[in-house]
Amino acid sequence: MSSDLYREQILEHYRNPHNFGEIQDADITQEGDNPLCGDMITMYLKLDDGRLGSVKFRGRGCAISQASASILTDLVMGRPVDELKRFPTQALLDELGIPISPARMKCATLSVNTLRVALGAGVEDEDDAD
Ligand code: FES
Repeated sequence: MSSDLYREQILEHYRNPHNFGEIQDADITQEGDNPLCGDMITMYLKLDDGRLGSVKFRGRGCAISQASASILTDLVMGRPVDELKRFPTQALLDELGIPISPARMKCATLSVNTLRVALGAGVEDEDDAD
C-alpha cells in the first residue's frame, strides 16, 4: 500500500473510528493522556475467558492518536490477554504505515500505551527524548 493510501486510511479511521464508544459493564476502564498536548483517550475492556472479548474507546485528540486507537482496537479484539501484555508498539506503527516523526510518536502510541497500562503490563520504553 502506498503512503497516500495509508494516509487516507488514517483519515478514514479518524472520521469513522472503529469500536468508538463505551462499554457500560467494562471489566477495565483506563484513561491515558498525552502530556505534551493534553489529549486523552479512555479504553474500555471486557475480558472473556482470558481473551479480550470486547474493546471500545473514547477520546479527543489529533488524527494520528484517534486513528491509531481505532486501528488498535481492530488489531487486539479477541486476542489472548497474555499476548496483548506483550503487544509490540511496532505492530501498531506498521499498521499506521506512515513515517511517524519523534514529535508525533506520543500521538501514535497513546492508545497502545494505555492498553498496556490497562492490562497492568507497564509502558514499553520508547527511544524518543521528552
Ligand atoms: Fe495530541 Fe496528537 S497532538 S495526541
